[in-house]
Amino acid sequence: MEEPVKILGFVGSLRKGSYNKALMRAASELLPEDAALEVFDLEGIPPFNQDLESEPPQVVKEFKAKIKKADALLIASPEYNYSIPGVLKNAIDWASRPYGDNAFEGKPVAIMSASIGRLGGARAQYHLRQSFVFLNMHPLNRPEVMMPFAQEHVDEHGNLADETTRQLIRQLLEALVQWTRKLKEKPQ
Ligand SMILES: Cc1cc2nc3c(=O)[nH]c(=O)nc-3n(C[C@H](O)[C@H](O)[C@H](O)COP(=O)(O)O)c2cc1C
Repeated sequence: MEEPVKILGFVGSLRKGSYNKALMRAASELLPEDAALEVFDLEGIPPFNQDLESEPPQVVKEFKAKIKKADALLIASPEYNYSIPGVLKNAIDWASRPYGDNAFEGKPVAIMSASIGRLGGARAQYHLRQSFVFLNMHPLNRPEVMMPFAQEHVDEHGNLADETTRQLIRQLLEALVQWTRKLKEKPQ
């Protein structure tokens, strides 16, 4: 059996009852057998200060080290004001610096979003994909996991109750594992 694909997940909402945290929790339940998921909590990452980028706070060092060790990344995020939340952008900015030490370099990545609105966070996903270009990441194109009207699909315990979204997350994870293995293949 091949080594499991190590996935690092993080969520762009710090809210205790976050619907995006519910998506990440569901992902940990729906993982393919040949994958492992560790979730990094972005709580406690201070605002980015370029004066500190070469010697960042300990929590940022840990975040960068975990990204580098991971075979693939999984991001779940809400949409804030038609874009990604500052918490997520801030974490990405830290981990991309200093120049020449971008922890995201060459990483496969998959995205999920949940929103109480009708577009399910689609606009935030496309903003995030724009940053992936500069970060030189390899985003998975499909399936697109966007959960609109999230409040109707997550129960009072934070469990994702919606079977359609669970099915999509299962497909996303399978596709991410395949994509990651494909990118690791050595040319003949
Ligand atoms: C500052 C802020 C801006 C928001 N902007 C949007 C938006 O542009 N589009 C949208 O669909 N929802 C927007 N929302 C509503 C979020 O979809 C909703 O708060 C959602 O629950 C956030 O995700 P979470 O449950 O993971 O915290 C916004 C919420 C906040 C707090």
